[in-house]
Amino acid sequence: MLRLENLVKRFGGLVATDDVSLNFPAGSLTAIIGPNGAGKTTLFNQITGHLVPTSGKIWLGDEDITGLKPVAIVRRGIGRAFQIASIFPSMTVRESLAAAVTAHRRSAFGLTSAFPCRDVADRADELLHLLGMDKVADRISSEISHGDQKLLDVGLALALEPKVLLLDEPAAGMGPEERWQMMATVQRLWKSANMTLLFIEHDIELVFRTAEVIHVLRYGAVLASGTPDEIRGHPDVIEAYLGRETEEDPA
Ligand SMILES: Nc1ncnc2c1ncn2[C@@H]1O[C@H](COP(=O)(O)OP(=O)(O)O)[C@@H](O)[C@H]1O
Ligand SMILES: [Mg+2]
Repeated sequence: MLRLENLVKRFGGLVATDDVSLNFPAGSLTAIIGPNGAGKTTLFNQITGHLVPTSGKIWLGDEDITGLKPVAIVRRGIGRAFQIASIFPSMTVRESLAAAVTAHRRSAFGLTSAFPCRDVADRADELLHLLGMDKVADRISSEISHGDQKLLDVGLALALEPKVLLLDEPAAGMGPEERWQMMATVQRLWKSANMTLLFIEHDIELVFRTAEVIHVLRYGAVLASGTPDEIRGHPDVIEAYLGRETEEDPA
């Protein structure tokens, strides 16, 4: 489905993406982990067209999408959650989702085409339910909790019905309990939407319990790839990543 081929991104003398070749099969749930500054976000920014790779290629199926503009990449079905809950600050959660559904249908079916309001409302309700946000459906978006705003960001991305969804630290800034809930929700959404999902997360325990496949980045390069069990037992990862975590947090 999505494939990175010898991807390199340099910022001046810094190699932020160092010859990365990765394959994300259709329907897979993959985590990208690695220390701060490892190049995780830079990798996402190249996939979404926000950064142009220095060299290498990005394939979506058999189309080379390297260097396409973000809007062209969204149109091909690669979505990403931005922190945009506040794009519609005065709307309720339900209205924000309905607005995103409407925007998506307009771009998919043309500006002038009419589609039944009930249809949009049904889809918005379906998303509310998937997100587990029924209880806050009628609250103003800018007034809900940080965790719910992050969920809404994911919902707004989902409204565009992406084939591939990228989530950059969806649980950042949340308390422990909320983080688990967020990842459980992400896993549920992935199962129900039948999409290819990539997420970045630095909490290793969350990643072990959520992802099917993990790629570990360090200094821009892929240090290791494997299932949670393989990564847990990988000597390089233990030394480079888990080892340090353990020192910082003896618990
Ligand atoms: N636009 C940019 N210009 C220059 N350097 C950048 C830019 N974006 C990221 N970097 C650098 O690239 C490296 C990787 O950053 P990033 O991808 O944000 O890491 P991560 O998301 O893994 O924490 C860092 O050293 C960062 O300072
Ligand atoms: Mg980052």
